[in-house]
Amino acid sequence: MEIGVYIHIPFCKRKCYYCDFVSYPEKYELQGKYIDKVIQEIEENKKILQDNNVTTIYIGGGTPSSIKPELIKRILNEIYNYTEINNIKEITIEVNPGTATKNNLQLYKNCGINRLSIGLQSTNNDILNEIGRIHNFNQFLDTYKWAREAEFKNINVDLMIGIPNQTIDDVKTSLEKVVSLKPEHISVYSLIVEDETPMKKLIESGKLKLPDEEDERNQYKYTKNFLELNGYKHYEISNFAKPGFESKHNLNCWEQKQYIGLGVAAHSYINGVRYSNTISLEEYLNKDSKDIKEIHETQTIDDMKKEYMLLGLRKIDGVQISKFEEKFGENPIYLFKNELKKLIQEGLLIIDLDNIKLTEKGLDLANIVWEEFV
Ligand SMILES: C[S@@+](CC[C@H](N)C(=O)[O-])C[C@H]1O[C@@H](n2cnc3c(N)ncnc32)[C@H](O)[C@@H]1O
Ligand code: SF4
Repeated sequence: MEIGVYIHIPFCKRKCYYCDFVSYPEKYELQGKYIDKVIQEIEENKKILQDNNVTTIYIGGGTPSSIKPELIKRILNEIYNYTEINNIKEITIEVNPGTATKNNLQLYKNCGINRLSIGLQSTNNDILNEIGRIHNFNQFLDTYKWAREAEFKNINVDLMIGIPNQTIDDVKTSLEKVVSLKPEHISVYSLIVEDETPMKKLIESGKLKLPDEEDERNQYKYTKNFLELNGYKHYEISNFAKPGFESKHNLNCWEQKQYIGLGVAAHSYINGVRYSNTISLEEYLNKDSKDIKEIHETQTIDDMKKEYMLLGLRKIDGVQISKFEEKFGENPIYLFKNELKKLIQEGLLIIDLDNIKLTEKGLDLANIVWEEFV
């Protein structure tokens, strides 16, 4: 069976004010030890890699570009030992412009990485500063130029909307500047104000003010229209791609395919079981790698069917009825007739030939749709 591999690199130079991803600033002295442990974890799981067909690898974080590139190469070489390299279609690494160098990007290319995901968020330096980014727009431009010089032909740029003090004009400018560079993929995330982040405290104390909901939705609609007009297909709530450049790794996750996550806080989904690794770096480094994966959920077939809907409806094309039937031997329209009837009546879903998908209204109120399938 096909399987994706996710590797988590939990280091960042500094924490951005909005972010609650598992990453540890100022712990770079542990990077060598950490990668030794990841290599051990790969060894422990080599049978899963050998018995399946690895088609995608995603090196995420944290900031993978902030550790020595030789360590990234070590991880990939270890995985290559247990896989058929020719079957791996996509290898992505996340890059923060404040940590990228021309040399490192070239080294990534040389070790087989064929997709870069660069975190930008906004082209406005004041906004970048206010949200605690470690780079400015010019540093992003350098990173992008070096990436093309290293012949990366598949580049994603992350942007954010709904940031305090961000106006629709800021969003327009960011989109125009980014689109003029012609990246193959653009992710646009609506800010989630996470608990325990400096951003949440700044908002609660009144020092920062979020755009109101209508402004945020207008930023989203503008983004969608602008990117579609410029040839980017809106294929998932937050993701846009030139045809053929959709993220294969993420699409597999939304299509409930298997993946194995390695490293601290990484999640896995194997044979209907969801596992998660400890989020404590100390525990990850000190525990036996056999004991790192904890079972999070063992799915029944009914859980699987519901989750298939939940994940599939994130995609703009939604859930393909024939694919659901092929996988589960049942028609989702009959199986979920009550839920679908309700959501269709509320104008949140439509059935369009072979697809069940979100309407424009459903895109804005996706949380209400998810509730029906948890
Ligand atoms: C792991 S980071 C990308 C790589 C690198 N660490 C960086 O930030 O440049 C993943 C992306 O998630 C998005 N993100 C992180 N926290 C978020 C939040 N609270 N709300 C919305 N988007 C968020 C940002 O766009 C960020 O680029
Ligand atoms: S957004 Fe990226 S760089 Fe910023 S703290 Fe989160 S993982 Fe680190």
